[in-house]
Amino acid sequence: MGKLAGKVALITGAAKGMGYTEALLFAQEGASVIATDRDTAAGEKVVQEIHQQGGKAFFLEHNVSEEEGWKNVIEKTLQAYGKIDILVNNGGILLQKSLENTTSQEWDQVFDVNAKGVFLGCKHIAPAMRKSGGGSIINISSIYGLIGGPNAAALAASKGAVRLLTKAAAVDYAKDNIRVNSVHPGLIETPLTSEIMKDPTQKDWFISKTLLKRAGQPIEVAKAVLFLASDDASYITGSELVVDGGITAQ
Ligand SMILES: NC(=O)c1ccc[n+]([C@@H]2O[C@H](COP(=O)([O-])OP(=O)(O)OC[C@H]3O[C@@H](n4cnc5c(N)ncnc54)[C@H](O)[C@@H]3O)[C@@H](O)[C@H]2O)c1
Repeated sequence: MGKLAGKVALITGAAKGMGYTEALLFAQEGASVIATDRDTAAGEKVVQEIHQQGGKAFFLEHNVSEEEGWKNVIEKTLQAYGKIDILVNNGGILLQKSLENTTSQEWDQVFDVNAKGVFLGCKHIAPAMRKSGGGSIINISSIYGLIGGPNAAALAASKGAVRLLTKAAAVDYAKDNIRVNSVHPGLIETPLTSEIMKDPTQKDWFISKTLLKRAGQPIEVAKAVLFLASDDASYITGSELVVDGGITAQ
């Protein structure tokens, strides 16, 4: 029996990177997965891969910043599976710009996806989870939800918002047996960080700050997300799980 046998899990931003890896891992652990993303072509491929491995999944096109999109995704999931046990608010974007060079449009765009997207997910999933007796929400923040860094003003502000939104949601939803936790990855090798990984100056800077002296792999974050999603984390809510090779330990 997998750790998520019988569970229904909705994962946003599941077409690539960590969301992709989480979708595969969750399906291997027995969950029925709803993979959502803006990128339909890549998202469909993830679902094909899950089917090839004998897992259950379907894909829905979804922009996490749009409220109507959330309603549609939740409605379709309930029609297909009758409940939602797990939500991973993973979809997010990166902006590497100094505070002074960040435009108000860029600020709004980063907040629309990284902060409002998570807010809308936490808001619209609650009635479904309440109805089925509880659930687990995992919000993907960042080390930049815990500390600052160069050229990270809008990113860090949006990920800091995710950290405290998570705690406020944990307080609101505890009575409904809905656990809400945040995950804080360090530098992880995904399409999002491909430019950083190709730039020796940036890559070396990150690695020099990382106790384990390497970038992380998506599966190393996915396993932490799986733990929080599963009943192994039944007494954990409002917490922050740091998966950063030790960057923020110093
Ligand atoms: N990679 C890292 O080093 C790192 C570090 C800390 C936090 N994170 C966070 O982890 C999460 C996943 O990052 P990743 O590295 O796997 O990124 P990625 O770019 O590799 O994948 C992110 C996915 O999210 C999707 N997405 C982007 N905007 C969306 C939107 N508005 N609606 C729906 N889908 C959208 C993209 O299409 C993509 O498939 C993000 O929230 C990111 O901020 C990543």
